[in-house]
Amino acid sequence: MELVDRTPQEMAGEFLANGAPSLWPDLPHLDGMSPDRITALPSLPYGDPAFSGRLLREQTDTTTTDSSRPPDLVERQLAWLRAALPTWRAGQVHHPLCGPGNYATALHDHGMTSYVGIDAGPAVVDHARRRFAGQDDVRFLLGDALDPALSPPDNAYDTLLLTYDAANFFAPHTLRPFLRALVERLRGGGTVVLDLRLAEDGIRGFDEGRQVHRRRHGSVFRDGPHLLLSEGFVAAGGALLGHRIIAVGEGTEPREPEVFHSVLHVPTAEQLAGHLRSAGLEVSVIGRPFADSSDPNLARHLVAAHRPTPTPHSPPWRQS
Ligand SMILES: C[S@@+](CC[C@H](N)C(=O)[O-])C[C@H]1O[C@@H](n2cnc3c(N)ncnc32)[C@H](O)[C@@H]1O
Repeated sequence: MELVDRTPQEMAGEFLANGAPSLWPDLPHLDGMSPDRITALPSLPYGDPAFSGRLLREQTDTTTTDSSRPPDLVERQLAWLRAALPTWRAGQVHHPLCGPGNYATALHDHGMTSYVGIDAGPAVVDHARRRFAGQDDVRFLLGDALDPALSPPDNAYDTLLLTYDAANFFAPHTLRPFLRALVERLRGGGTVVLDLRLAEDGIRGFDEGRQVHRRRHGSVFRDGPHLLLSEGFVAAGGALLGHRIIAVGEGTEPREPEVFHSVLHVPTAEQLAGHLRSAGLEVSVIGRPFADSSDPNLARHLVAAHRPTPTPHSPPWRQS
């Protein structure tokens, strides 16, 4: 994006008053964007080494819940699941979009026998691998979780985890085949655990309009001092929630503004149940482990579903 001939503070004032397109006319007004156009926006650059390094910094900062579930919250979440589903034992675990390894640590207390995490971030995977060095039963793969080359073999695991909005990262037309392919590799009787935002969780965190944040010491979006011009949006009646974030350098050598989008696809509980059924799963548990929290990052449901074990009496075409 072009550098605008104004100070960062002037840009912030103009952004708050009239929106980003008044500074950068090529940017669309978020209000008028169609759901298709929002769905087609590029996702955050998770695979970029510098972005991944900055994301890791935030994921390992236990004072924020913005980019990761810190260890104490992972423990609370898993304890909640265990109480709701006492027969569940993690066993062999598959965890796409795994983050820095907090789940691999906590699952040891829940009967985990092996773990494979997949993450697109090179710094995130490096960190996780170093953390579990020497533990051959805990592995981290680097890449896009949608890449069929990273698919595990059939009957490969007992528990599939999709945590911290992982299922919200994908539009329904991507999520459904992705889930189906993952469930095909889940053992009969195995469990899928989703920590995700449902429409019933509301729109808090996305309805705050335009905001300007000053980041003196860098953020996920950029190193060095900068401003973040951020605008939340709610589209398609709440089925799409997101932010457009523009990072504007404030240092002595300001770099060109950069624009980022983060978009979540938010199903209702009923729509999610439909996605799970079409993947051959039956919902076992649905609830809100952090119902008492005011943190918008914890306004999420935890849903467990299981793959029914085929019975000897069911004909082969009914065995999912
Ligand atoms: C919101 S973070 C949550 C991480 C983890 N669940 C946690 O709570 O610590 C999302 C993670 O997914 C990774 N990611 C995003 N899109 C991905 C994709 N398509 N394939 C693999 N990893 C992805 C990012 O690098 C990031 O580490």
